[in-house]
Amino acid sequence: MFPAERPRRLRTTPAMRRLAAETQVQARDLVLPMFVADENTTPRPISSMPGVYQHTMDSLRRAAADAVDAGVGGLMVFGVPDPDDKDPQGRAGIDPDGVLNRALRALRADLGDDTVLMADTCLDEFTDHGHCGVVADDGSIDNDATLDLYQQMAVAQAEAGAHVVSPSGMMDGQVAAIRLALDTHGHHNTAILAYSAKYSSALYGPFRDAVGSSLQGNRATYQQDSANARESRREVLLDLEEGADMVMVKPAMLYLDVLREAAELSTVPVAAYQVSGEYSMIAAAAERGWIDRERAITESLTCIKRAGADFILTYFADVATGLLER
Ligand code: PBG
Repeated sequence: MFPAERPRRLRTTPAMRRLAAETQVQARDLVLPMFVADENTTPRPISSMPGVYQHTMDSLRRAAADAVDAGVGGLMVFGVPDPDDKDPQGRAGIDPDGVLNRALRALRADLGDDTVLMADTCLDEFTDHGHCGVVADDGSIDNDATLDLYQQMAVAQAEAGAHVVSPSGMMDGQVAAIRLALDTHGHHNTAILAYSAKYSSALYGPFRDAVGSSLQGNRATYQQDSANARESRREVLLDLEEGADMVMVKPAMLYLDVLREAAELSTVPVAAYQVSGEYSMIAAAAERGWIDRERAITESLTCIKRAGADFILTYFADVATGLLER
Protein backbone atom coordinates (compact mmCIF):
# COMPACT_ATOMS: atom_id res chain seq x y z
CA MET A 1 0.00 0.00 0.00
CA PHE A 2 1.56 3.28 -1.17
CA PRO A 3 0.28 6.75 -0.20
CA ALA A 4 -1.58 8.21 -3.16
CA GLU A 5 -0.17 11.66 -2.56
CA ARG A 6 3.44 12.46 -1.68
CA PRO A 7 3.82 16.18 -0.89
CA ARG A 8 7.32 15.43 0.37
CA ARG A 9 8.48 15.04 -3.24
CA LEU A 10 8.65 18.83 -3.48
CA ARG A 11 10.85 19.03 -0.38
CA THR A 12 13.59 16.63 -1.42
CA THR A 13 16.42 19.05 -2.33
CA PRO A 14 17.23 22.67 -1.66
CA ALA A 15 16.79 23.41 -5.36
CA MET A 16 13.37 21.74 -5.40
CA ARG A 17 12.29 23.65 -2.31
CA ARG A 18 13.50 26.88 -3.83
CA LEU A 19 11.55 26.24 -7.00
CA ALA A 20 8.41 25.33 -5.07
CA ALA A 21 8.55 28.28 -2.65
CA GLU A 22 5.42 30.41 -2.82
CA THR A 23 6.93 33.34 -0.98
CA GLN A 24 10.26 35.00 -1.40
CA VAL A 25 11.49 37.92 0.65
CA GLN A 26 13.81 40.26 -1.18
CA ALA A 27 15.95 43.10 0.11
CA ARG A 28 13.71 45.62 -1.58
CA ASP A 29 10.77 44.38 0.50
CA LEU A 30 12.45 45.64 3.66
CA VAL A 31 12.40 49.13 5.16
CA LEU A 32 14.95 49.97 7.83
CA PRO A 33 13.76 52.11 10.76
CA MET A 34 16.56 54.37 12.03
CA PHE A 35 17.00 56.66 15.03
CA VAL A 36 18.93 59.91 15.09
CA ALA A 37 19.52 61.84 18.31
CA ASP A 38 20.40 65.48 18.71
CA GLU A 39 22.57 65.02 21.77
CA ASN A 40 24.79 62.20 20.60
CA THR A 41 28.39 62.74 19.67
CA THR A 42 28.94 59.02 19.09
CA PRO A 43 26.35 56.42 18.09
CA ARG A 44 24.67 55.15 21.26
CA PRO A 45 23.78 51.45 21.42
CA ILE A 46 20.20 50.82 22.52
CA SER A 47 20.53 48.33 25.34
CA SER A 48 17.16 46.64 24.80
CA MET A 49 17.82 46.33 21.04
CA PRO A 50 21.30 44.82 20.62
CA GLY A 51 22.71 45.86 17.24
CA VAL A 52 20.50 48.97 16.91
CA TYR A 53 21.85 52.47 17.51
CA GLN A 54 20.69 55.96 18.22
CA HIS A 55 22.76 57.62 15.54
CA THR A 56 24.56 60.90 15.31
CA MET A 57 23.84 62.85 12.15
CA ASP A 58 27.08 61.54 10.62
CA SER A 59 26.64 57.92 11.59
CA LEU A 60 23.04 58.06 10.36
CA ARG A 61 24.20 59.19 6.94
CA ARG A 62 26.80 56.44 6.74
CA ALA A 63 24.43 53.72 7.94
CA ALA A 64 21.71 54.92 5.58
CA ALA A 65 24.06 54.84 2.60
CA ASP A 66 25.21 51.34 3.56
CA ALA A 67 21.64 50.08 3.87
CA VAL A 68 20.73 51.54 0.49
CA ASP A 69 23.83 49.93 -1.05
CA ALA A 70 22.73 46.64 0.46
CA GLY A 71 19.45 47.02 -1.43
CA VAL A 72 16.83 47.82 1.20
CA GLY A 73 13.60 49.24 -0.19
CA GLY A 74 13.42 52.29 2.05
CA LEU A 75 14.34 54.03 5.28
CA MET A 76 12.01 55.15 8.07
CA VAL A 77 13.54 57.90 10.18
CA PHE A 78 12.72 58.71 13.81
CA GLY A 79 14.13 61.78 15.55
CA VAL A 80 15.20 61.93 19.18
CA PRO A 81 15.37 65.53 20.39
CA ASP A 82 17.36 66.94 23.25
CA PRO A 83 15.15 66.39 26.35
CA ASP A 84 15.23 70.15 26.95
CA ASP A 85 13.59 70.72 23.57
CA LYS A 86 10.48 68.70 24.43
CA ASP A 87 7.27 70.62 25.09
CA PRO A 88 3.54 69.85 25.39
CA GLN A 89 2.99 70.33 21.64
CA GLY A 90 6.08 68.57 20.35
CA ARG A 91 7.17 71.69 18.46
CA ALA A 92 10.69 70.33 17.91
CA GLY A 93 9.10 67.78 15.60
CA ILE A 94 7.67 70.51 13.40
CA ASP A 95 10.59 72.94 13.51
CA PRO A 96 12.51 72.78 10.20
CA ASP A 97 15.69 72.85 12.29
CA GLY A 98 14.54 70.04 14.59
CA VAL A 99 16.58 66.85 14.56
CA LEU A 100 14.21 64.84 12.37
CA ASN A 101 13.81 67.49 9.69
CA ARG A 102 17.55 68.13 9.59
CA ALA A 103 18.15 64.41 9.22
CA LEU A 104 15.63 64.17 6.38
CA ARG A 105 17.29 67.06 4.58
CA ALA A 106 20.74 65.48 4.95
CA LEU A 107 19.58 62.05 3.80
CA ARG A 108 17.69 63.40 0.82
CA ALA A 109 20.75 65.40 -0.19
CA ASP A 110 22.95 62.29 0.11
CA LEU A 111 20.61 59.75 -1.42
CA GLY A 112 18.33 61.71 -3.75
CA ASP A 113 15.77 59.34 -5.22
CA ASP A 114 17.93 56.23 -4.78
CA THR A 115 15.73 55.10 -1.92
CA VAL A 116 12.31 55.84 -0.46
CA LEU A 117 12.80 58.20 2.44
CA MET A 118 10.05 57.92 5.03
CA ALA A 119 9.43 60.07 8.09
CA ASP A 120 7.58 59.20 11.28
CA THR A 121 4.80 61.75 11.49
CA CYS A 122 3.99 61.65 15.18
CA LEU A 123 4.57 63.87 18.16
CA ASP A 124 5.43 61.36 20.87
CA GLU A 125 9.19 61.61 20.51
CA PHE A 126 8.91 65.38 20.88
CA THR A 127 6.31 65.89 23.62
CA ASP A 128 7.31 66.25 27.27
CA HIS A 129 4.37 64.03 28.31
CA GLY A 130 5.24 61.42 25.67
CA HIS A 131 1.77 61.15 24.14
CA CYS A 132 1.18 61.10 20.39
CA GLY A 133 -1.17 64.08 20.63
CA VAL A 134 -2.16 67.15 22.55
CA VAL A 135 -3.22 66.49 26.15
CA ALA A 136 -6.41 68.37 27.12
CA ASP A 137 -7.05 69.83 30.58
CA ASP A 138 -8.98 66.75 31.64
CA GLY A 139 -6.04 64.52 30.66
CA SER A 140 -7.67 63.15 27.50
CA ILE A 141 -5.95 63.29 24.11
CA ASP A 142 -7.49 66.05 21.99
CA ASN A 143 -7.95 64.46 18.58
CA ASP A 144 -8.70 67.55 16.50
CA ALA A 145 -6.11 69.83 18.08
CA THR A 146 -3.58 67.11 17.30
CA LEU A 147 -4.57 67.00 13.62
CA ASP A 148 -3.54 70.60 13.25
CA LEU A 149 -0.03 69.77 14.48
CA TYR A 150 0.21 66.65 12.29
CA GLN A 151 -0.60 68.83 9.28
CA GLN A 152 2.25 71.19 10.09
CA MET A 153 4.58 68.32 10.80
CA ALA A 154 3.80 66.54 7.52
CA VAL A 155 4.34 69.70 5.49
CA ALA A 156 7.66 70.34 7.25
CA GLN A 157 8.77 66.77 6.51
CA ALA A 158 7.77 67.02 2.85
CA GLU A 159 9.72 70.26 2.65
CA ALA A 160 12.71 68.57 4.27
CA GLY A 161 12.70 65.91 1.55
CA ALA A 162 10.63 62.98 2.79
CA HIS A 163 9.10 60.96 -0.04
CA VAL A 164 6.62 59.47 2.41
CA VAL A 165 5.06 60.79 5.60
CA SER A 166 3.84 58.19 8.06
CA PRO A 167 1.21 59.17 10.60
CA SER A 168 1.53 56.68 13.47
CA GLY A 169 -0.53 58.42 16.14
CA MET A 170 -3.93 56.76 15.49
CA MET A 171 -5.88 60.03 15.58
CA ASP A 172 -9.20 59.88 13.73
CA GLY A 173 -9.09 61.71 10.42
CA GLN A 174 -5.29 62.02 10.36
CA VAL A 175 -4.85 60.81 6.80
CA ALA A 176 -7.43 63.20 5.32
CA ALA A 177 -6.04 66.11 7.34
CA ILE A 178 -2.48 65.43 6.21
CA ARG A 179 -3.48 64.91 2.55
CA LEU A 180 -5.25 68.26 2.57
CA ALA A 181 -2.29 70.06 4.11
CA LEU A 182 0.22 68.47 1.73
CA ASP A 183 -1.89 69.31 -1.32
CA THR A 184 -2.50 72.86 -0.14
CA HIS A 185 1.26 73.34 0.04
CA GLY A 186 1.88 71.81 -3.37
CA HIS A 187 3.22 68.47 -2.14
CA HIS A 188 0.96 66.38 -4.35
CA ASN A 189 3.60 63.72 -4.81
CA THR A 190 4.39 63.18 -1.16
CA ALA A 191 2.84 59.83 -0.27
CA ILE A 192 1.12 58.85 2.96
CA LEU A 193 1.91 55.54 4.62
CA ALA A 194 -0.93 55.21 7.11
CA TYR A 195 -0.41 53.22 10.26
CA SER A 196 -3.98 52.01 9.87
CA ALA A 197 -4.21 49.10 12.27
CA LYS A 198 -1.85 49.99 15.05
CA TYR A 199 -2.42 48.14 18.26
CA SER A 200 -1.68 49.18 21.82
CA SER A 201 1.14 46.72 22.41
CA ALA A 202 3.64 45.65 25.03
CA LEU A 203 5.98 45.00 22.13
CA TYR A 204 6.79 48.72 21.76
CA GLY A 205 8.73 48.68 25.04
CA PRO A 206 12.24 48.72 23.57
CA PHE A 207 11.28 51.46 21.09
CA ARG A 208 10.36 53.73 23.95
CA ASP A 209 13.88 53.16 25.27
CA ALA A 210 15.26 53.88 21.84
CA VAL A 211 13.60 57.27 21.57
CA GLY A 212 13.92 58.20 25.24
CA SER A 213 10.14 58.40 25.54
CA SER A 214 8.72 60.45 28.42
CA LEU A 215 5.44 58.53 28.46
CA GLN A 216 3.79 57.70 31.77
CA GLY A 217 0.73 55.52 31.38
CA ASN A 218 -0.36 54.10 28.04
CA ARG A 219 -1.91 54.85 24.65
CA ALA A 220 -5.01 52.70 25.01
CA THR A 221 -7.43 55.56 24.25
CA TYR A 222 -6.06 55.92 20.73
CA GLN A 223 -4.26 52.71 19.77
CA GLN A 224 -6.34 49.62 19.04
CA ASP A 225 -7.25 46.90 21.48
CA SER A 226 -5.52 43.62 20.68
CA ALA A 227 -8.82 41.82 21.21
CA ASN A 228 -10.24 43.32 18.01
CA ALA A 229 -9.87 42.37 14.36
CA ARG A 230 -13.10 43.72 12.87
CA GLU A 231 -12.11 47.16 14.07
CA SER A 232 -8.98 47.05 11.96
CA ARG A 233 -11.08 46.52 8.83
CA ARG A 234 -12.88 49.74 9.70
CA GLU A 235 -9.59 51.56 10.24
CA VAL A 236 -8.11 50.33 6.95
CA LEU A 237 -11.24 51.25 4.98
CA LEU A 238 -11.34 54.71 6.53
CA ASP A 239 -7.68 55.34 5.71
CA LEU A 240 -8.25 54.23 2.12
CA GLU A 241 -11.21 56.59 1.82
CA GLU A 242 -9.13 59.39 3.30
CA GLY A 243 -6.46 58.90 0.66
CA ALA A 244 -3.78 56.64 2.15
CA ASP A 245 -1.25 55.57 -0.47
CA MET A 246 -0.12 52.62 1.62
CA VAL A 247 -1.55 51.08 4.76
CA MET A 248 0.20 49.33 7.61
CA VAL A 249 -0.48 46.77 10.28
CA LYS A 250 1.57 46.94 13.45
CA PRO A 251 2.93 44.91 15.25
CA ALA A 252 3.39 42.10 12.75
CA MET A 253 3.96 38.63 14.16
CA LEU A 254 1.09 38.54 16.66
CA TYR A 255 -1.27 40.17 14.16
CA LEU A 256 -0.92 38.02 11.05
CA ASP A 257 -4.68 37.47 10.91
CA VAL A 258 -5.19 41.23 10.81
CA LEU A 259 -2.49 41.54 8.17
CA ARG A 260 -4.13 38.91 6.00
CA GLU A 261 -7.47 40.70 6.18
CA ALA A 262 -5.88 44.05 5.41
CA ALA A 263 -4.17 42.51 2.37
CA GLU A 264 -7.49 41.16 1.11
CA LEU A 265 -9.26 44.45 1.67
CA SER A 266 -6.69 46.93 0.49
CA THR A 267 -6.43 48.50 -2.94
CA VAL A 268 -2.98 49.91 -2.08
CA PRO A 269 0.28 48.29 -0.90
CA VAL A 270 0.17 46.84 2.59
CA ALA A 271 3.07 47.12 5.01
CA ALA A 272 3.72 45.33 8.28
CA TYR A 273 5.95 46.62 11.06
CA GLN A 274 8.02 44.02 12.87
CA VAL A 275 8.39 46.21 15.94
CA SER A 276 11.09 46.67 18.53
CA GLY A 277 9.80 43.97 20.89
CA GLU A 278 9.67 41.46 18.05
CA TYR A 279 13.26 42.33 17.23
CA SER A 280 14.34 42.09 20.85
CA MET A 281 12.66 38.76 21.50
CA ILE A 282 14.54 37.19 18.60
CA ALA A 283 17.79 38.97 19.42
CA ALA A 284 17.67 38.04 23.13
CA ALA A 285 16.79 34.40 22.60
CA ALA A 286 19.51 34.13 19.96
CA GLU A 287 22.06 35.75 22.28
CA ARG A 288 21.33 33.01 24.79
CA GLY A 289 21.73 30.38 22.12
CA TRP A 290 18.10 29.35 22.51
CA ILE A 291 17.15 29.95 18.89
CA ASP A 292 19.10 30.26 15.67
CA ARG A 293 19.26 33.97 14.89
CA GLU A 294 19.54 33.78 11.12
CA ARG A 295 16.80 31.20 10.73
CA ALA A 296 14.50 33.12 13.07
CA ILE A 297 15.03 36.31 11.07
CA THR A 298 14.35 34.77 7.69
CA GLU A 299 11.45 32.67 8.95
CA SER A 300 9.77 35.63 10.62
CA LEU A 301 10.10 37.85 7.55
CA THR A 302 8.94 35.09 5.20
CA CYS A 303 5.86 34.43 7.31
CA ILE A 304 4.98 38.13 7.54
CA LYS A 305 5.20 38.37 3.77
CA ARG A 306 3.25 35.13 3.29
CA ALA A 307 0.45 36.55 5.45
CA GLY A 308 0.06 39.44 3.00
CA ALA A 309 2.67 42.14 3.54
CA ASP A 310 4.00 43.78 0.40
CA PHE A 311 6.82 45.26 2.42
CA ILE A 312 8.09 45.01 5.98
CA LEU A 313 9.54 47.56 8.35
CA THR A 314 12.13 45.70 10.39
CA TYR A 315 15.23 46.50 12.41
CA PHE A 316 16.72 43.40 10.80
CA ALA A 317 16.47 44.97 7.33
CA ASP A 318 20.16 45.68 6.85
CA VAL A 319 21.46 42.38 8.22
CA ALA A 320 18.66 40.45 6.52
CA THR A 321 19.79 41.59 3.08
CA GLY A 322 22.84 39.37 3.60
CA LEU A 323 20.70 36.36 4.46
CA LEU A 324 18.19 36.49 1.62
CA GLU A 325 18.48 34.47 -1.51
CA ARG A 326 19.32 36.41 -4.62
C1 PBG B 1 4.88 56.35 17.59
C2 PBG B 1 5.55 55.09 17.23
C3 PBG B 1 5.83 54.02 18.06
C4 PBG B 1 6.46 53.05 17.31
C5 PBG B 1 6.57 53.56 16.02
N1 PBG B 1 5.97 54.80 15.98
C6 PBG B 1 5.70 53.89 19.51
C7 PBG B 1 4.41 53.77 20.17
O1 PBG B 1 3.34 53.79 19.58
O2 PBG B 1 4.48 53.69 21.39
C8 PBG B 1 6.92 51.73 17.82
C9 PBG B 1 7.88 51.02 16.95
C10 PBG B 1 8.55 49.87 17.58
O3 PBG B 1 8.20 49.42 18.69
O4 PBG B 1 9.48 49.38 16.95
N2 PBG B 1 5.54 57.44 17.02
